[in-house]
Amino acid sequence: MRVYRGTFVNPLNDRRYIDFLRDHIVGVQDGTIAFVEPASRLGEMATIHGFNPESDVSVFMGNQFFIPGMIDTHIHAPQYAFTGTATSCPLMEWLEKFTYPTESRFSDLGFAEQVYSKLISRLLKNGCTTGLYYATIHNESSLALARCALRAGQRAFIGKVAMDRNAPDHYRQATATAIEETERFILDARQLNSGLTHPLVEPVVTPRFIPTCTSDLMSGLAALAAKHHCLIQTHAVESIDEVAFVKSLHDAEARHEDDACHCSGGETGCLCERDIMILDKLGLLKPGTVLAHAVHLKEEEAALIKERGAAISHCPLSNYFFSQGVLPLRRCLDWGVTVGLGTDVAGGYAPSLLTAIRETVVSSRTLENRELQEGRVGGPRLRSELRVTWREALWLATMGGAQSLMLANRLGSFAPGKLFDAVLVDPQAPGSPFDVFIDAAAGGERPRAQGGLDTLEDIVEKYVNLGDDRNHVAVWVQGREVVAAGGQLVAA
Ligand code: GUN
Ligand code: FE
Repeated sequence: MRVYRGTFVNPLNDRRYIDFLRDHIVGVQDGTIAFVEPASRLGEMATIHGFNPESDVSVFMGNQFFIPGMIDTHIHAPQYAFTGTATSCPLMEWLEKFTYPTESRFSDLGFAEQVYSKLISRLLKNGCTTGLYYATIHNESSLALARCALRAGQRAFIGKVAMDRNAPDHYRQATATAIEETERFILDARQLNSGLTHPLVEPVVTPRFIPTCTSDLMSGLAALAAKHHCLIQTHAVESIDEVAFVKSLHDAEARHEDDACHCSGGETGCLCERDIMILDKLGLLKPGTVLAHAVHLKEEEAALIKERGAAISHCPLSNYFFSQGVLPLRRCLDWGVTVGLGTDVAGGYAPSLLTAIRETVVSSRTLENRELQEGRVGGPRLRSELRVTWREALWLATMGGAQSLMLANRLGSFAPGKLFDAVLVDPQAPGSPFDVFIDAAAGGERPRAQGGLDTLEDIVEKYVNLGDDRNHVAVWVQGREVVAAGGQLVAA
C-alpha cells in the first residue's frame, strides 16, 4: 500500500460542492483508494491496513494540494495537429475546409502516433487523467490512439468515428462498412487491456453527428452499443447552421414516409426534425450517451435527456467560435441534467480543462450579463441566477465528468473504492504563473474581509483561475505515477 499525506480538494458526491480536506491521508492499494482519513488516524490505519507509517507514506505539505484527475468529456485527438489555427469560419465550412482534410491524413499510422503521443503527454501535464476521445474513421489509427494512451498511462475512452454521408468520398464509409468496422474496433480495443488490473482503454460508439450519419447507420450503431455495452458519443444541437442542416435532411426524409409526427411539439414547434428526438428514436439516447455542446437545446429536449439518463459535454470555448449561442448551463443543472466539461480540441483551441473551467464561468456570466442588460432581471436585483462559480466548474470537470461516463463510483473524487487519479498542485512551483501571500504571523487563516491574506480556498481559487501545467508537479492514474514529482512525464 502507498499512502499520500497532504491536503485534498475533494468534490462531494451529489452536491455541486467541494470539500477542503486539510492534513489527510489517502491509502492506495492496487490503484484503488482504500481509505481517506484525517492524518491523526495514521497509526490506527497503519495497524488496520498493515503499512509502515514512515516508509510507505509520501508527505506533501506546505501549500501543495491534491485535486482529482480532470476528465475531458469531449476532445478530437486528430485535431490536435491544427489546434490554435483555423478559428475563423462557421462549423460546416470548418469541417469541410480544415477538419476532414486533416483527419483523413490519419490513415498514415506514423503521423497518427506522432500527433497522438504529443497530445496525450500534453493532456497529462495539464492534469487530464481521462479523455473521451474522437479518433478518425480509420480503425488502425484509432487503435494507435489507444496504444499511446496505454503507454503513457492515461485512461482513454475512444471512438472510431462513423460517417456515411455528407463527407468527402475518401473520408467516409459505406453504411455496412462503418458498422462492421466499429464492431471490429470494439473487439480489438478491448483486447488491448489484457494483463491490466483495471482496464485503461475503452471503445465508444461514435456517430459523428446526424448530418454525416444516415438513420440506418445510427440504428446499426445503437444496436452495437447495446450488444457490447459501450458508451455513445455524438454532437447535438451545436450551432444554428447544424440545426438547420439537420432540419433540411430530416424534412426530406420525412416526406418519403406517411408517418404523422408524434412529438409533443407544443409551443416550441415540431421536435422531430431536431437532433435530440432523432437520436432518441434511433436508440442512441440512454445512460452513457454523451452529447457534445447541446447549446440550442429546448426545455422539452433537456427533460428528455434527463429522463433517458444521457449527459451533456459542455464545451464553452468551442461554443464561442461555432455555436452562435451559449449553453444555458445553470438551467441545465437546475433541471437535473448530467453535465461534464470538454475542451473540444480543435473547435476549442486549448487542450486544458483549466481553460474549460474558466470559460464555463465566463460563458455563464455572458448569459447573466445579457439578461441584466436586456432588463429581464428587474428591480433591485443586480444578479440573475445564471452564474456558475469556479467551485461548480471544478466539480463539473471532475465529478461531472465521472457521472457523464457512468463512473461516479470509480472516478471524480477521493473516496474509498475509487481509483486514485490525482494531480498534485504546487502553487509555489518554479515558474508558477501566480503568487500566494500567507499570513505567517496569524497562526491560522483570517478571512480577507478581516484583512487576512490567502486562505487555502483562496489559493485553490487562484490556481483554478490562474494556474497551469507548471503547477502540476505530479499526476497519477489509477495509482500509477504518470507525471513524476517535479513535473516530468514518466513514459514518453
Ligand atoms: N460536429 C461534427 N464534427 C465536429 C467536430 O469535429 N467539431 C465540432 N466542434 N463539431 C462537430
Ligand atoms: Fe466536437
